[in-house]
Amino acid sequence: MKIKVADSAGFCIGVKRAFELTEKILKKYNYKNIFATGEIVHNSSVTKYFNNKNLKIVKDLSKIPNDSVLIIRAHGIEDNLRNKIIKRNIKYYDATCPYVAKFKLVAEKLEKEGYFILIFGDKEHAEIKTITSNIKNFKILSTIEEFERLGNFGDKKIALLSQTTQSVELFKEVVKILVDKTSQLFIFNTICDATKKRQNAAVRLAKEVDIMIVLGSKNSANSFRLYSICKEINPETYMVDNIYELDKNVLKGKNLVGITAGASTPDWIINEAVHFLKNFEY
Ligand code: F3S
Repeated sequence: MKIKVADSAGFCIGVKRAFELTEKILKKYNYKNIFATGEIVHNSSVTKYFNNKNLKIVKDLSKIPNDSVLIIRAHGIEDNLRNKIIKRNIKYYDATCPYVAKFKLVAEKLEKEGYFILIFGDKEHAEIKTITSNIKNFKILSTIEEFERLGNFGDKKIALLSQTTQSVELFKEVVKILVDKTSQLFIFNTICDATKKRQNAAVRLAKEVDIMIVLGSKNSANSFRLYSICKEINPETYMVDNIYELDKNVLKGKNLVGITAGASTPDWIINEAVHFLKNFEY
């Protein structure tokens, strides 16, 4: 069985930065009394890794003592929560991905310039909650159909932004739809480079292999996006947290296995999969 790993797979710059910062802070404070505003990144093995190092995830910030150390995860935090942390004088470190932080500023600037903002993303996702926490004139839409159902905006100034992990192809479709509904449309492509690179590499590989394995957690938006894109190209696509979760029957008769991994999937999960498959015999 031959194995090929996508040219671009695994940790992106934002995740790597959040991971390294968390490691540093845990060590600095002797693995004691350190909390995070959620999973540092959306990956179960990373979460387990930090959990073993005594990082506690806190949903309700009012529950943490004043002398705690807090890490803001890669998806950022809503402004009202950040203000509460500052007000309580809690020591905090910010692992928000710089792209998410930039995207937030862009949305705020566009609102000040009089734009109504349409965001192509998932309103329940932490990144989108962060980005929209200081704007009022916006709407979040998660499907092409929702954009199609929008009425005509006439002369209204419309700005289109996207969740950083959105599909590039779907974003292009949204642009086409909006062109017919607006006379003043500002498009800011906020899909980050890491997402684009991983999607392009996954598409190339999915076309070539007998079976495609996407390594990533189900709550990772970018991993799930990779899975959906690959599945359309290659129906033999499977998404698992790690290689041990894969139903090995799907490997029967396959000669070339492709592996890709979401931006929040660590190298050790990719290496483990490669190692396992190299030694696997059906
Ligand atoms: Fe940031 Fe893009 Fe990664 S937004 S966390 S660099 S997928």
